[in-house]
Amino acid sequence: MGQPALLVQCLLAIHFALIVTAPVVAQEKIELRIDVSTTGAKIDRNIFGQFAEHLGHGVYQGIWVGPNSKIPNTRGIRNDVVAALKAIKVPNVRWPGGCFADEYHWRKGIGPQRVETLNPNWGGVIEPNSFGTHEFMDFLDQIGAAAFISVNVGSGTPQEAAEWLEYLTTAQPTTLSTERAANGHSAPYKIAYLGIGNESWDCGGNMTPDYYLSQLKIYSRFVRNFNPTQQTKEQMLKIAVGPGGGEARWTEWTEAVMKAWQNRQWSWDINGLSLHNYTVVRWPPAFKSVGFGETEYSQILKSTLEMDNLINKHSAIMDKYDPEKKIALAVDEWGAWYAPLPGSNPGFLVQQNSLRDAILAALNLNIFARHADRVRIANIAQMINVLQAMIMTDKGQMVLTPTYHVFKMYAPFQDSYVVPVLFNAGTYTHGDITLPRLDAIAGKDTAGKLWLGITNVDPNQAVEVEISLTGINAKSATGETLTAPKVDSVNTFNSPNTVTTKSVSAKIQGRKLALRLEPKSVTVISVER
Ligand code: AHR
Repeated sequence: MGQPALLVQCLLAIHFALIVTAPVVAQEKIELRIDVSTTGAKIDRNIFGQFAEHLGHGVYQGIWVGPNSKIPNTRGIRNDVVAALKAIKVPNVRWPGGCFADEYHWRKGIGPQRVETLNPNWGGVIEPNSFGTHEFMDFLDQIGAAAFISVNVGSGTPQEAAEWLEYLTTAQPTTLSTERAANGHSAPYKIAYLGIGNESWDCGGNMTPDYYLSQLKIYSRFVRNFNPTQQTKEQMLKIAVGPGGGEARWTEWTEAVMKAWQNRQWSWDINGLSLHNYTVVRWPPAFKSVGFGETEYSQILKSTLEMDNLINKHSAIMDKYDPEKKIALAVDEWGAWYAPLPGSNPGFLVQQNSLRDAILAALNLNIFARHADRVRIANIAQMINVLQAMIMTDKGQMVLTPTYHVFKMYAPFQDSYVVPVLFNAGTYTHGDITLPRLDAIAGKDTAGKLWLGITNVDPNQAVEVEISLTGINAKSATGETLTAPKVDSVNTFNSPNTVTTKSVSAKIQGRKLALRLEPKSVTVISVER
């Protein structure tokens, strides 16, 4: 199918999913129509990326316990965490921040003598720098993920960043690569993504678009990746700081960067524009992460669906300057940001992770998938113990969150091709909030298998779905569903399986599949032909 026709299909799918709001009587069937011969953009596996900042117990205790710890580890990195992350196929990890990256000096985190500094952004605690460049790259190696390094454009210099990249990537016998070898790694590292600054409009230095652009051009020019294997293939992608919302200051920022890029000269380039968007409703974050009811459930989900408008808004600006969609929109910080858990250090951003977060994660991943032609990288904030985490740890204990389960269930969508799904989502109403009752995506993986991700947003009513498939003779469809007794059900160290998956299968009815979706659930099934 040609691109324009496909675009119409996708738009139709979104229209049906999000705009048509004909009331649906509870238990009425919702029909999903899928033509398997129609495929769209690739759902880049990198939209399932993670973010690990030196913040609270995200790195220290979350990843790093040190080689002398009683907690089982490999070269200081927790074995339980590595095994859990391998199971969700983490494609890339953004590090070392966040605001932390805006004042990170990499030399303090290499070699036998680490320098103790402070972490003024996040609780003012001591930063031991024991987890530095080599430990991060070892961690990535252990979990099988690619590196997304965010360089310091705030308090650092282009020279410092350029030397870091030379240290990391050169195969030539320079003083820096000799130092890298002396520190235990003679082979050059691969760096997949280079973040040039972080929130430079705010914690990254409060820069104007023009000032940032002057820095961006310099960093883009001089911070080079020398790895011989990345010169023609697997080239490092450079991500510029982009917007942090939808207001005028952000649209002006996107305009400025994209316009400069369109008029660029040979000496600088970028491959991505960052977008940060937290589900917070209002600042400072005040919603409770546990101990809430349906009102807060519906408010948060309404707020999270704004992600789609935000992507549409900034994509439209990008389309003006880059109609071929060469520049990716990199949603490299997203997720729910709630009030800190009572008794925790407010600078550590500790929150619980409930079934609501699982639904929120699925809705956002679906939005990214529907924008697969532009959104080609995303990083949920943050991987462990911070904000909307995959994993929570306490000393030797570890628990997998509801969000973790969604990432695991969605792993088959990595690098699959979008198959448009046509449906009337119906509505779910609570108080003055009305939301689409159902959301769905489909993807065809490289082996040709069809995968469906379907979310029932309604916390009270099950939904019967009827799936009409064209272009495939379905024999069976099985998978997993994730739900729990309450919208604020959480997994704890003592009760780790309150929110967990169970098997589901669809019934074949002629050429259709019939599936019952439990209230407030996320379901992923694959279709066998
Ligand atoms: O993820 C927490 C913080 O949120 C990051 O450090 C910063 O980039 C953003 O404001």
